[in-house]
Amino acid sequence: MTVEIKRVAVVGAGNMGHQISICCALAGLETSCIDVSPEQLQKAESFMKKYLPERVAKGKLSEESARQAEARLRFLDSLEEGVREADFVIEAVTEKLDLKKELFRRLDQLCPPHTILATNSSFFVSSLLAPETGRPALVCNMHFFNPALVMKCVEVVKGPHTAEETAKAAMDLALKMGKKPVLLHKEIYGFLVNRILRRIMDEALFLLDTGVASAEDIDSAVVNALGHPMGPFTLMDLTGIDLSYHIAMERYRETGDPADKPSPAVVEKYVRGEWGRKKGRGFYNYG
Ligand code: CAA
Repeated sequence: MTVEIKRVAVVGAGNMGHQISICCALAGLETSCIDVSPEQLQKAESFMKKYLPERVAKGKLSEESARQAEARLRFLDSLEEGVREADFVIEAVTEKLDLKKELFRRLDQLCPPHTILATNSSFFVSSLLAPETGRPALVCNMHFFNPALVMKCVEVVKGPHTAEETAKAAMDLALKMGKKPVLLHKEIYGFLVNRILRRIMDEALFLLDTGVASAEDIDSAVVNALGHPMGPFTLMDLTGIDLSYHIAMERYRETGDPADKPSPAVVEKYVRGEWGRKKGRGFYNYG
């Protein structure tokens, strides 16, 4: 049975979740943005209150659309309240498998039986989460890119448990948000984009770690020779060096190959808490 998606809950108001929530609200969906941290919710709401008027001032959004989007978006600390009536949940919490498993167990209990449960994880496939629920056919990956308000691509990944209608609903939802979704017919570590990006990141880190060139010059070369919008180190600062660390650790846990361990430069930044823009310092200093 296909249910029209009208209400969406985004769990996690961090780097990805707050922007995914705004995408949903702008697409005309009643949206709950849920987080356990009052500070994170406050930050997300402040961002929305600044972002929408800026879009209006730039002439990219009508005042009426901005007003309606704001009215459609609720920031909540109660999971129960936020997902009670949701047709579709997008999980965007920290990349910790135990946390996600526990959350999927709770979502399964709290959501109506028809609700689709999608994870925005960058690397955990949904078959790790589907068995925690009594609705595996309604579980899939729906992976957005940073900054989610700007990047058009969304990867929808079908697991062996995912029903065709579930993948279609996720694709349709992404289209409704004005995205250009792509469908992966089977699960694979890193999906499409992060597999390709990994080659670039690994090579950039190798060149930095071996002292061949500075982060600034590697970035400059990638931007000015390859035409990428930003270099790999600027991009890692944007997406979060903690995420780069966790992705490499997860890869290493899976393969046991020491070559898959996070690079020395990433470990150093991770340990120092210099995780990129969100911490004010990463490969670059953001004052
Ligand atoms: N949030 C929301 N909007 C943003 C933004 C942000 N953080 N940063 C920029 N924008 C918007 C601006 O408002 C502007 O919008 P309009 O053109 O509609 O006015 C537009 O993006 C361009 O911004 P700027 O002119 O300020 O800067 P730019 O041209 O350098 O673009 C960028 C910034 C969009 C981030 C661009 O540099 C870019 O595309 N970088 C590559 C990003 C990328 O590769 N993302 C994928 C990361 S991998 C990932 O996410 C996978 C994962 O699993 C983590």
